[in-house]
Amino acid sequence: MSLPKEVMRVENLQETNLYYARYGSGTPMVLLHGYPLDHSVWEPVVPLLSAQYDLIAPDLRGFGRTRAIEDSCTVYEMASDIVHLLDRLELGSVYIAGHSMGGYISLALIDHWPERVSGLALVASKVMSDDLVTRKNRYAVIEQIKNSGVEIVARSMPARLTQDTALRIKIASLIRDQSSQGLICAQTAMAERPDFSKMFSSIRIPVVVIAGSEDSIVPVAAVEKMAGLNSRARLSVVKEAGHMPMMEDPETTAAGLIALTEKDPSK
Ligand code: MLT
Repeated sequence: MSLPKEVMRVENLQETNLYYARYGSGTPMVLLHGYPLDHSVWEPVVPLLSAQYDLIAPDLRGFGRTRAIEDSCTVYEMASDIVHLLDRLELGSVYIAGHSMGGYISLALIDHWPERVSGLALVASKVMSDDLVTRKNRYAVIEQIKNSGVEIVARSMPARLTQDTALRIKIASLIRDQSSQGLICAQTAMAERPDFSKMFSSIRIPVVVIAGSEDSIVPVAAVEKMAGLNSRARLSVVKEAGHMPMMEDPETTAAGLIALTEKDPSK
């Protein structure tokens, strides 16, 4: 296990304190975690990337050691936290890998601050907004969390994320470390996020799309269709992985992230 080079506290980022871990050195790459987790989900790929990359893995607003500000927030507010972090670190344009919800935040970041992103990896994520049923379900989940806390999510969600039983136990414990306020904030942000399909189809930076072949949350067929929207997008399907490819198959996932910063031989 690689130890973070720095685990720092960045103060006063739009009234939040954003924590992040930083590992390795080289080309800057920001790793944005998904819901309802924190930066540590990226740890399995760190040893495979840290010789080549300056890896910056924040705890997003409301997760890990970064506190939520209020019960609602938007993907743009979460993206602006990252822009402030980049400013603090004096980093102009960076590669960004976003896992699931982290992907939605990466897309919001490109939408408002395109000059800050050199390339995008979407890991088990999608560019489409929620359909009505999914959005309604998010508000039902918010009510459940208000009534029963994060435990209800820690019990129900791991089985949807991976078939790997040992990993399910680890993920359940990670979810129990999160706050109700953070989960509610993120569910609101995801429910209200816009559709990024049009924006995604027009971006002209390198794009890699990584999908788990067994993902039940973001099915591979939908990811294949989505990758077809952008002529620069390269698709990597991680066999036998579910929604957590960076933990289930770090080698294949890391290879996909490395491909993001390498020239595409077919282009
Ligand atoms: C995630 O893994 O970040 C979430 O499952 C994404 C979502 O709920 O859309």
